[in-house]
Amino acid sequence: MIASRHSLRRTVALALPLSLALPLAACGSSGSGGSTSSNPAATADGTSSGSTAKPSGEITVYNAQHETLGKEWIDGFTKATGVKVNVRNGSDTEMANQIVAEGKASPADVFLTENSPSMTIVENKGLFAKVDANTLADVPQQYRPSTGMWTGIAARSTVFAYDKNKLKAGQLPASIMDLAKPEWKGRWGASPSGADFQAIVSAMLQLKGKDATLTWLKAMKTNAKPFKGNSTVMKAVNSGQIDGGVIYHYYYFGDQAKTGENSKNVSLDYFGKKDPGAFVSVSGGGVLKSSKNPTAAQAFLNYVVSKQGQEVLQNGSSYEYPVGSQVPANSKLKPLAQLDAPDVDPAKLNSPEVVTLMQDAGLL
Ligand SMILES: [Fe+2]
Repeated sequence: MIASRHSLRRTVALALPLSLALPLAACGSSGSGGSTSSNPAATADGTSSGSTAKPSGEITVYNAQHETLGKEWIDGFTKATGVKVNVRNGSDTEMANQIVAEGKASPADVFLTENSPSMTIVENKGLFAKVDANTLADVPQQYRPSTGMWTGIAARSTVFAYDKNKLKAGQLPASIMDLAKPEWKGRWGASPSGADFQAIVSAMLQLKGKDATLTWLKAMKTNAKPFKGNSTVMKAVNSGQIDGGVIYHYYYFGDQAKTGENSKNVSLDYFGKKDPGAFVSVSGGGVLKSSKNPTAAQAFLNYVVSKQGQEVLQNGSSYEYPVGSQVPANSKLKPLAQLDAPDVDPAKLNSPEVVTLMQDAGLL
């Protein structure tokens, strides 16, 4: 993992301005970052895409989603279609920058992310092909950009993970903006270098504007303890190092489903009320315009949002929310419709500006 990801990062750093080439760690990637492949197991009837052409051959997926989730989708697709899938794993930002650096020569046929700002980076360079209409039809409009150049494939909720032994309901921040208040100095944490947290800031930027976001980030620099990775933030809450942390919901549910040892003292608070802290981040999937096998690439994306692909989210170990084919979330999760998330256009989340503001605030 280390060697290949560092070499990828070096490639990107040579090709792009520093502001775009910062090493923003994938919050959840923990296994190998190298290329692997999933061998065809069977040739079946294809996907439910309604495409006239049957997918065949092989494709390469640049996967910035959690590796285990990406693998579940890839293995399911290969089993259903016989299409061989090569996968390269990395973080949102480094993989987006890699695709931009490679341009039309990119070996990627499909790009999957954890958060949508990196989809926007690739879309803004004109590198995506339009997503097949039958795929878009599987995903409600609120979980995909109006341009149709990529689609949402999963969703995750921002939460305040807090130490339930220390804080009672009335002591929780009513808004994520409250974490800028002096009373929260030294008491909360986050993973500022991660694409997950930066997506939350990009939502704040869209909802509250540049000045309010920069003011909040400067207060965060004073008040918050930085950690690397959302799991580390949750562990710090669990061990009493901090009272609370801003993370995504699935880190808690994933730990609870295992031993719960990193979350036994933790509860989640959902900010709700359309607060920036109630931001629901859309993971994206898109097909590259330069794909040499667009039929199979489009079929893969169709599989991910199909009932079968979305049931991976409902029944698997990711604990992320399904967004397509009317598949309900895992019953352990607070239903998506009850989160009272703010209205954010995923196509307009501005990650380069977020990086600049976070640098200005001394967080990066
Ligand atoms: Fe994550």
